[in-house]
Amino acid sequence: MAKPVSIEVWNPSGKYRVVSTKPMPGTRWIRLLTDQDCRVEICTEKKTILSVEDILSLIGNRCDGVIGQLTEDWGEVLFSALRRAGGKAFSNMAVGYNNVVVGAANKYGIAVGNTPGVLTETTAELAASLSLAASRRIVEADQFMRAGLYDGWLPHLFVGNLLKGQTVGVIGAGRIGSAYARMMIEGFKMNLIYYDLYQATRLEKFVTGMSLLAFSIYNCISGLVSSYGEFLKANGEQPVTWKRASSMEDVLREADVISLHPVLDKTTYHLINKERLAIMKKEAILVNASRGPVIDEAALVEHLKQNPMFRVGLDVFEDEPFMKPGLADMKNAVVVPHIASASKWTREGMATLAALNVLGKIKGYPIWSDPNRIESFLDENSVPPAACPSIVNAKELDDCITYCSCIPQPQPAE
Ligand SMILES: NC(=O)c1ccc[n+]([C@@H]2O[C@H](COP(=O)([O-])OP(=O)(O)OC[C@H]3O[C@@H](n4cnc5c(N)ncnc54)[C@H](O)[C@@H]3O)[C@@H](O)[C@H]2O)c1
Repeated sequence: MAKPVSIEVWNPSGKYRVVSTKPMPGTRWIRLLTDQDCRVEICTEKKTILSVEDILSLIGNRCDGVIGQLTEDWGEVLFSALRRAGGKAFSNMAVGYNNVVVGAANKYGIAVGNTPGVLTETTAELAASLSLAASRRIVEADQFMRAGLYDGWLPHLFVGNLLKGQTVGVIGAGRIGSAYARMMIEGFKMNLIYYDLYQATRLEKFVTGMSLLAFSIYNCISGLVSSYGEFLKANGEQPVTWKRASSMEDVLREADVISLHPVLDKTTYHLINKERLAIMKKEAILVNASRGPVIDEAALVEHLKQNPMFRVGLDVFEDEPFMKPGLADMKNAVVVPHIASASKWTREGMATLAALNVLGKIKGYPIWSDPNRIESFLDENSVPPAACPSIVNAKELDDCITYCSCIPQPQPAE
């Protein structure tokens, strides 16, 4: 028998019981649920990571849906319990869902939601911050100042790497990887090399401007510039270049700053290992704001020890919340506690999208047609569309699913 956990209850007489395993930022997500006849129970246990037993206790005998976190193990045990309790939906408050065994959810007919779109820029900005902090040794220099060690300007004091005109490498050029690439190209005029299983068409278009044909016609007619590279040239600056690499190794060999943005799955586990670290430039910067196990962290610690000019910026770790032995001692590592999506706007938006995923399944709403275009769900001044913003196993659960059009539909009044 699982022991009870502490909860806070909103709208106790609500018809549908929705559980959130953590308090989440903002109050709009609570209001959206309670306005639609949900009783909302928020777990207020002090411990950071809930066990499967804790969550079983939260689910109890009757539960319509759960909003959970990426630190929880959602598999056979929890999905079968949610099914027994009459549940229809689970939503991660995250875009990544490597903590969820989607096959188990399918087996019990539970919809699995995630929250893409609202994290993209915030996460990319953190990756850009880590790139800057590592290349300009900001954290080391800050610690030096606070320790009272600064006794005057010196030519060699905290010399780091210049970004302008260098090459940024992106591995996994999806939503976040592409947004990060744009920031580094626009902000620091870096050249781009990327590796992804698929072509990052929108990113390429941004750097190139438009197709070559349209480009030349446009230039002939207007005499204007049409790509970011041309724009720089017209301003007397070196144009940026871009390349899609045919192998990840090409990115590792050529780039001065490399940022990792793939999903975590079997193909990306320990993508960066001892052998691949060895082919990177000795003074390269490596950034990871994807998932910890994408890097073999023990191999990374060894590499940092052997190569003091190689620097790393890490938001995520292989065995969170722990770091591999030795990492905390490395001056050439900047480490932050998984805060890439931690802007107020993003975290409140994630909470809203997760709540609407669960609410939508409870109410039988269709799935939104484009989970990347979720602005209408986040607009505080209007009623969100009657749709589930993003359900990752929609197809597996229902072959005849009706996808919602992009035109926002007001929710029916109860
Ligand atoms: N640190 C954080 O707080 C934080 C926040 C948001 C997202 N994330 C992580 O970032 C990941 C990416 O998010 P996104 O929204 O950009 O997802 P996305 O699906 O848009 O992009 C992921 C990209 O990785 C590529 N990819 C998959 N396997 C690959 C491989 N073997 N080699 C190279 N590329 C590969 C895909 O083709 C895709 O383009 C998420 O899955 C999540 O794990 C972390």
